[in-house]
Parts: sequence; structure tokens; C-alpha cells
Amino acid sequence: TAAEKGGHDHFMLKEIAEQPRAIADTLLGRVDEQGRLRLDEVRLPLGTVDKMIIVACGTSYHAGLIAKHAVERWAGLPCEVELASEFRYRDPILSSGTLIVVISQSGETMDTLMALRHAREQGSAVLAICNVNGSTIPREADAVIYTHAGPEIAVASTKAFLTQLVACYLMALYLAQRRRTLPDEEIAGILARLSKAPADVEAVLTTVEPVRELARTLKNQRCVLFLGRHVGYPVAMEGALKLKELAYMHAEGFAAGELKHGPIALIEEGLPVVVVVPSPKGEPTLHGKIVSNIQEIRARGAMTVVVCEDGDTAVEPYADALIRVPAVPTLLQPLVTTVPLQVFACELASAKGLDVDQPRNLAKSVTVE
Ligand code: G6P
Repeated sequence: TAAEKGGHDHFMLKEIAEQPRAIADTLLGRVDEQGRLRLDEVRLPLGTVDKMIIVACGTSYHAGLIAKHAVERWAGLPCEVELASEFRYRDPILSSGTLIVVISQSGETMDTLMALRHAREQGSAVLAICNVNGSTIPREADAVIYTHAGPEIAVASTKAFLTQLVACYLMALYLAQRRRTLPDEEIAGILARLSKAPADVEAVLTTVEPVRELARTLKNQRCVLFLGRHVGYPVAMEGALKLKELAYMHAEGFAAGELKHGPIALIEEGLPVVVVVPSPKGEPTLHGKIVSNIQEIRARGAMTVVVCEDGDTAVEPYADALIRVPAVPTLLQPLVTTVPLQVFACELASAKGLDVDQPRNLAKSVTVE
């Protein structure tokens, strides 16, 4: 009903709008006055962990791809990320030092559950990141970090994804704290920055009207490409997944560095390409390389839609449309860059007259393999 949607046309729009609160709730009570992380729920022998494998499906898998960067950078721990449906059917090398992390909004996804069982049979400890209290995956895992997104109704995941990112950042920082791979002050600094994320997302939400207008103009397109690098690459994949799910359009997320190895052949006159640009204050070569990618595709006729940080002027001359997000540290950027892509897919699907909350052929929680 309209009341349940809180005045929004769709549950998805309501859930997109709830993201600042969802992030704040997921952070709540997890950092003490001294700026130290309290994740007492993770009662696992983390000292002996020498490898992490993150396993998930769909949007949760994209959260895992982003988490890998944080785990390796902050906790100095080798980290692999794999689709649950693939993990289960190869012969993953697991030992007692391997920590398996499963990410699932619903806690009921069969592929992910089977991967969890497989890992536990091999003697690995499993940490779940989950949004639904008492669901099957957290019940069978050795420990669980709950995200506090609240119930997510729309089939396409939005607020659960952002809270999964927050939980992954907390997990990586907690590992860093326990393994002493980062000085306490640095951990406290990142946590302080993370506590501003709700305000950053709120700021993005106030500036999305032009994104909606842009989406409406693209409703007759057949295909949209998404490019990103580093943590922007999984964001590109997530932007593409949303467009497939909601607007039934062919959409693909590519690593910008791979353009020249194939995808650039797809560029033709008028093709919309959404580019997620890393912060110019982060790794400077990364930013420079993506700016040249934008130039290359534009020279070949692409219509460039550029998602970049406030104040990034280097991209302006090559952007047919510009979407600005607040400046945040590179690893945290997905929290802000994902939001306009959610709005983009949602609006494009509405413009096509499609059912945003319940796209054809999809289920909120897939309980078959
Ligand atoms: C389904 C949903 C996706 C979701 C995926 C994983 O395919 O439609 O939105 O990302 O399952 O779900 P989970 O509950 O395990 O995160």
C-alpha cells in the first residue's frame, strides 16, 4: 500500500531514501568512546587466520569484491572473492587458517548456504554478514555480523548493499585491530570518517534529480556500459546488474583497464557509457588513466555519463553528463557512487513502465540451487 511505501512510488525508492539511516544503524554501538571497534559477536580465533575467502551471490557478491580491497589494505590478509554457485563445485583449498565470509541479505540463498556447509565440512570457520535475524545462514555460521538495514522489500537490493559495505569495512578494521596491522589512531580515523557516511549519502540523495532526468532520456536505448577501476569496478558491475534486473536492458560492467583488450570494440555512436571515476586525491595514476579512457570512448562516439568527486575538474571537458558525489576516501567511495546508479536504474525502469519492485523472473530470495 501507499502508506507502506512511505509516500514513495515504489519500495525501492523508499529503501534508497532509507540508506543514511540504515548505515547509521549498522554502525550504532560498534565503536566505543576510545574509537575502538566493538565487534564482540566475532568470537573467532582471528590470530591464526592466514587467508579469507568471501562467498556470495548477486549484489552481495559485489559487496564482497569491494570488501577484498579493505581486507587486503587494512588487515594485510590475502582475500579471494567467489560466486557461491562456483565455489561449491570446484576444489577450493581450505585449511583451518582459512576464514570463510558469506554475505547474504536474506540469509536464505541456497547457493550461499551450500557454500557455507561445504566450507564447514572442510573445517573452515564461517563468518556470516546478514540482514535477517535468525535466518538459516547465520544460524549455521560460526559467527555473524548483522547489518541493520531493516526489512528490504524491493527485489533489487539497495540499502542492504550499502550496509553490507559498512559491515565489511568494520570487519576489515576489526581484523586490523586484532592483528595489529594498522595503528590504533589510523583505525579510529577511518571509523570517524565512516561515521560521516550517512551525511555523505544524504548529500547524494539531495542531488539526484538530474540523474532521474537523464535516465528518462535513455529509456529507448538497448544497451548501457559501465566502467570502473579499483573499488569502482564492482560499483560498475552493480550499476549494470541493477539495469538488467529492473529495466531489462543489456548492461555490462567492465574494468576500465580492460577496455583496450576487448570492450572498446563495442563502442559506437550514441552508446551510453557510465564511468565511475576514482578520487583524484587517491592514486593519481588511476584517476589519470580513467580520464584517458573517457577521452578514448568519447572520441569513438560514446555518450559519457561520468560519476566523479566534487571538485574533480579534469573530467569535465569529456563528460556529456556529470554526476557529482561528495569527496570521501577511495576505499569508502562505493558508499556514495552506488547511490546515483541505483536511482538511474530505478528511474529508467519506471520510465519504461516496468514493475520496479518486482521485476519479471526474479525472486527476492532464491532458495533453490
Ligand atoms: C537474488 C536477489 C538479488 C540478491 C541475490 C543474493 O538474486 O534478486 O537482489 O543480490 O539474490 O541474495 P542474498 O539474500 O543472498 O544477499
